Amino acid sequence: MTSRLQLKLSGKATDRPPVWLMRQAGRFHPNYRAIRANFNNFMDFCNNSQAASDATMVPIDAYPELDAAIIFSDILTIPQALGMNVIFTAGDGPKISGELNPRHWQNETINQLKPTYDAIRLTRKRLSNHKSLIGFCGAPWTLLAYMINGQNKNEFAQARAAAQAHTQEYQDQLHTITQHVIKHAQRQVEAGADTIMLFDSWAGLLSEEAFLQSVITPLTHIAQTLRPIAGVIVFMRSSTQHLKHWHHVPANAFQVDFSSHLMDIHKALPNHILQGNLDPAILLTNDHTIIEHTQRIMQLPISNQLIFNLGHGVLPNTRPEAIQTLLSTIEQYQVQYV
Ligand code: CP3
Repeated sequence: MTSRLQLKLSGKATDRPPVWLMRQAGRFHPNYRAIRANFNNFMDFCNNSQAASDATMVPIDAYPELDAAIIFSDILTIPQALGMNVIFTAGDGPKISGELNPRHWQNETINQLKPTYDAIRLTRKRLSNHKSLIGFCGAPWTLLAYMINGQNKNEFAQARAAAQAHTQEYQDQLHTITQHVIKHAQRQVEAGADTIMLFDSWAGLLSEEAFLQSVITPLTHIAQTLRPIAGVIVFMRSSTQHLKHWHHVPANAFQVDFSSHLMDIHKALPNHILQGNLDPAILLTNDHTIIEHTQRIMQLPISNQLIFNLGHGVLPNTRPEAIQTLLSTIEQYQVQYV
């Protein structure tokens, strides 16, 4: 069996757009918070296969309409596996410190990341054949942004300086990280992920030349390598100023953030599948508003090229019932969808 997501990513028709939500395994849900409460350290949670699999299954068990599970992990497991120190403190973003010389990075990151592959194996067994299992990685630039800058501060000015200067040292870092991203994605596919999403959350911070060097070139290489073995979804967040370059990346689908209009992206990329892009803040409003905004997206003339998702992750203060309203609206739309 295949899932609606796999069918759509391979360009086939589906009875309704596939749907899943970024951060669907997250703090908005009480069952997630109950699992999270067992860990002081967020990275320990990510590296516990059973807990990661349980967290992955929370939204799947709660909402039968979801067409995909995304494995519970974080993009910062790669820097940690390279030997860097990754710390999450409550209410604060992640802080990363350690060695920036690629010659001193651990080569066998794969061993460190084994809990994620085990979590994927466990989850694939628990998941219906009709549902996709999405693996993911941070894209090289976004990982380097955290690693070089240490934290999300001054719009990653130190990391941007490195990308703009594009020294040999920076190029070595970018090249080495790209190899690790490819390996991590390949291992996730071997363990049972059918789709890989690449998160370039800070792609929008770069000017054109740096964007081409640090975002488009590595993502093109990664997507080319992964396409024969998995569906590939690419998120170059807040980078529509560089939209004319997106087509170089051979992704099956592009994630669209909530500040863009799906039809504008469609005009630039008429043959692509797009994923998005309901503003997660809509889920903080009332049912009437949620239904109206969901239907607006479903009624767009590109609904046969759409994977329904949010424009960014589910916010922690979202009511679990708001997600049900969204998903029921999509499911009911099936009748009219051809
Ligand atoms: O459900 C899912 O989407 C799967 C799991 C997932 C997480 N992080 C779990 C998580 C995914 C796909 C990510 C990706 C991720 N992580 C990104 C790219 C997507 C984006 O948001 O742009 C980035 C930049 C990170 C790094 C990261 N992890 C930050 C900045 C934070 C802190 C901010 C916050 O929302 O708290 C995290 C923590 C994190 N990752 C949480 C979850 C569920 C919340 C932490 C907690 O439960 O205490």
